[in-house]
Amino acid sequence: MKSLEKLPKAKRVKIGKEANEIKNFLRIKFDQKAQEIKEKIKKEAEEKEWIDITAPGKKPILGHLHPLTQVKRKTEEIFQAMGFSVVEGPEIETEWYNFDALNIPPEHPARDLWDTFYLKDKLVLRTHTTPVDVRYMEKNNPPLRIITIGRVFRHEATDASHEVNFYQLDGLMVGKDVNVANFKAVIQEFFRRFFEKPVKIRLIPSFFPFVEPGFQVDMTCLNCEGKGCSVCSQTGWLEMMGAGMVHPNVFKNSGLNPKFWQGWAFGMGFDRLAMMKYKINDIRLFYSGDLRFLNQF
Ligand code: DAH
Repeated sequence: MKSLEKLPKAKRVKIGKEANEIKNFLRIKFDQKAQEIKEKIKKEAEEKEWIDITAPGKKPILGHLHPLTQVKRKTEEIFQAMGFSVVEGPEIETEWYNFDALNIPPEHPARDLWDTFYLKDKLVLRTHTTPVDVRYMEKNNPPLRIITIGRVFRHEATDASHEVNFYQLDGLMVGKDVNVANFKAVIQEFFRRFFEKPVKIRLIPSFFPFVEPGFQVDMTCLNCEGKGCSVCSQTGWLEMMGAGMVHPNVFKNSGLNPKFWQGWAFGMGFDRLAMMKYKINDIRLFYSGDLRFLNQF
């Protein structure tokens, strides 16, 4: 177009006209092609980036509370409703709190019942949650009502009903005239609410160094409702826990005067409680981390 100027006038008009026509022709063609390319890109993107809004959503896999935690919360809820506080104590315990303070002197054969893992400096892995009762009474004046649920350890071979590591529930109620009748009422009510079935309990004399008198507590068999079946060896009763009236020496070791205060304590295997609730036949399942088991809760 620029060189048109140099042409003689007669040619300039003719060639100029033709050049303009070519220019316009090319512009239209370019625009058309550009439009085609744009549309092609758009179409390809639509095919590739297509979202099916009617497709079902993908559910993210969520975890949930371990069955022992669920049972722990349920237990705490029931006792809290009856005025009990939930307290905790250390899993690494001193020999004093685990044994001596609970009226189990160093050479006493009762220590054999609670064989554990001994650490340095007179420390042990606690064999029961009962030491928490002493720790609590040292710091709090009666009247008091507490429960504690926690991990305990035993030096023993594992099988379907024994683990080296398991959980216990301990309870304690102390006051001026707290008695065995109160104990029966509270425990029977706990089992009734926990198992959501009417139950009866019975007390049988038993020995624990930290209580006097001591008892074993049985509950109506949940399977046959007391009629007698294979679960309860035809007796209609299931052994549930140890309990008793707090021994005067335990009060003294906790800094309380046994002349003024009396109360009861109980302790039980917490895993066993969960096993009965859900009809689980092997304690080791709780600690296996097997999702086929855990996903059932
Ligand atoms: N600590 C006992 C055990 O591990 C259970 C127990 C029995 C706890 C009687 C108590 C109790 O508080 O009063 O076998």
